[in-house]
Amino acid sequence: MKKILYVGAEVMPFAATGGLGDVMGSLPASIAATGEADVRVVLPLYAAVSDVWRSQMKQEDVFYVDLAWRQQYCGVYSLQKDGVTYYFIDNEYYFKRPALYGFFDDGERYAYFCMAVMELMAHLNFYPDILHAHDWQSALSVVYLNCIYRNRPGYGGIRTAFTIHNIEYQGIYDFAILGDVFALGENEHSLMDHSGCINLMKAAIECADRVTTVSPRYAEEIRTAEYAHGLEHCLNRNVHKLCGILNGIDYSYYNPETDPAIAASFTPTRMAGKTKNKTAMQKEVGLPEQKDIPLLAVISRLASHKGLDIVAECIWDIVANNDIQLIILGKGEPRYEQLFTDLESAYPDKVKALITYDRDLSKRIYAATDIFLMPSKSEPCGLSQMIASRYGAIPVVRETGGLYDSIKPYWVDGDKICGNGFTFANYSSYELQECTETAIALWNDAPARKKLVRKIMETDFSWKTSAEKYLELYAEL
Ligand code: GLC
Repeated sequence: MKKILYVGAEVMPFAATGGLGDVMGSLPASIAATGEADVRVVLPLYAAVSDVWRSQMKQEDVFYVDLAWRQQYCGVYSLQKDGVTYYFIDNEYYFKRPALYGFFDDGERYAYFCMAVMELMAHLNFYPDILHAHDWQSALSVVYLNCIYRNRPGYGGIRTAFTIHNIEYQGIYDFAILGDVFALGENEHSLMDHSGCINLMKAAIECADRVTTVSPRYAEEIRTAEYAHGLEHCLNRNVHKLCGILNGIDYSYYNPETDPAIAASFTPTRMAGKTKNKTAMQKEVGLPEQKDIPLLAVISRLASHKGLDIVAECIWDIVANNDIQLIILGKGEPRYEQLFTDLESAYPDKVKALITYDRDLSKRIYAATDIFLMPSKSEPCGLSQMIASRYGAIPVVRETGGLYDSIKPYWVDGDKICGNGFTFANYSSYELQECTETAIALWNDAPARKKLVRKIMETDFSWKTSAEKYLELYAEL
């Protein structure tokens, strides 16, 4: 049986801040469910990992990891869940902190983590056939394998895949710390170099046997200067190993039929519960309890690449000119938090701004929402449009990255409904407004709306197809 080791900085449900955590929490389990591989995942043992999980862990080993002139403690704990073995790297100096990232020494923390992953293989006598690393925090595992460990017994046959979840974050550092922090020497200078700095993602792209990203469209986009944040030449040079595989979502965690977090259950053919969720949400946030006007929602990190700058340009008009309600959930740049707070003050009966992040609350909003806005400037994959679809909210998206691959424009061909949402091509507030108002008009046409919502809810965004694609890739490796 094939042995696969996934390496990532966040994994649901143990510790996560975003989409990477969702994928690291559901892709390995879906591969394990095929019965075709021995699947293991390694992540740091952050302070955020709760006692519920800690009490189920078993200590596997304790050893020291050499990182340049440092010798650092490393405990390895394990836990079995859904057919997957999870390994947790314990070092309180690096990981017992109030957040997952954002510290002055993140480079050193993840260098240590990646070196610990290499050492773990020898200590547990587990040499995977495939090492599958995700995003910049895990990039050094691929680099250390090739530059330091390759000739040691056991490591020679390991094949590697590196997945880019977001090319914006590359792990960029000054060359002054190449030896002292990253434990690499002048031989690796050109490998690590991008535009005069150490670039961990670039080095992993060069070293990995395969580079994947989380949608086919994004795999095309990141070959251009508009999307690549400087790495377009590197990706074009390595295009023979690049491909995009669309993410899925966890269909048991996101299931309106069984979700304990929502007010009432519903399915594509039993939709009464959807209306109950809507009125429950209106009550919860203090909006007038009205069933017959569409409830719009934005659930997002409030950052401009999520499309918030074009939202800012047109949202006042959309709210003023349409009979709708709008809920915003998320936090981020202060100017957008302020925008939505101001909008709520101007239209208290129409708008609610929830400047926070809360997973259960987000599920209640998905379940209540009729129209979901996601006008990202760039979107490697995007999971929210899939979650919204699963909970019967019509997505309005810009045609980029995974949004382009997952949501196709609605039109009617005789009796046949084509597409599963509303989409626009150009990054313009004019197109966003027009597209949103078309979705509102469709929603107000009850028979058409019912057919579309059912089709949207029945669109398959599970891991099934994508897991098969990853298995093909592993088989090729
Ligand atoms: C990142 C991307 C997002 C993607 C997620 C999981 O968060 O920004 O588009 O869905 O990773 O791959």
